[in-house]
Amino acid sequence: MNDEQDRAFMKNFATVVGILVAVTVVLLVLANWLGGWIDDREAQRMELERERIAERIQPVGRLRWAGEPLPEREEPVVEEAPEMPEAVPDEPVADAELEPEVADEARADEAPYEGRPPAEIYQSVCQACHLIGVADAPKLDDPDAWRRVLDARGLDGIISSVIQGRGAMPARAGRPGLTDAEIRQTVLWILDEAGVEP
Ligand code: HEC
Repeated sequence: MNDEQDRAFMKNFATVVGILVAVTVVLLVLANWLGGWIDDREAQRMELERERIAERIQPVGRLRWAGEPLPEREEPVVEEAPEMPEAVPDEPVADAELEPEVADEARADEAPYEGRPPAEIYQSVCQACHLIGVADAPKLDDPDAWRRVLDARGLDGIISSVIQGRGAMPARAGRPGLTDAEIRQTVLWILDEAGVEP
């Protein structure tokens, strides 16, 4: 092998190595770019999938502090939704308007009696005077006496006599703890026992 052959070989060899290096670099760059592109696509897909999962596993209800603004609706609920409010409000509105009146009437007319049973009140309080007619108190078994006081002052009149006191009968029959309702019921009970229609 002479020098010339050596140089020619070296030149060819260097050229081949150079081309190989160049191809390698190009391939590396290409692979890198392609990989990055695929990664991007994958990342986007994953991101989308995560959002969808988050949407799907949303809790049905969420605690909200008083005054905290309502969360914005992200998606329209249902296509037919707009029709629903039209059909529904009629009744609740009517109810809301009616309810207070009905409730007021009920309160005025038929409020449930929450006091003690009138028979008990009579026995423990009124009986002391009204059984035998202490100090001219109308006796329980004397309908005429009750008829007279009823004709003179009416039901409300004789009830307020008990509340305010009358003659020898102290106000609220001496028991300040008795409520107006309890006194009313007891008077009605007494009249009923005496067989007198109020
Ligand atoms: C301390 C005795 C005494 C007690 C207790 C008493 N009364 Fe009387 N009550 C009287 C007397 C006396 C009269 C008659 C008053 C008069 O007209 O001068 C009377 C009258 C009444 C009258 C008629 C009032 C009127 O306007 O004429 C009613 C109703 C009555 N009592 C209900 C009751 C009831 C209900 C109780 C129990 C919660 C009760 N009394 C307890 C003594 C009593």
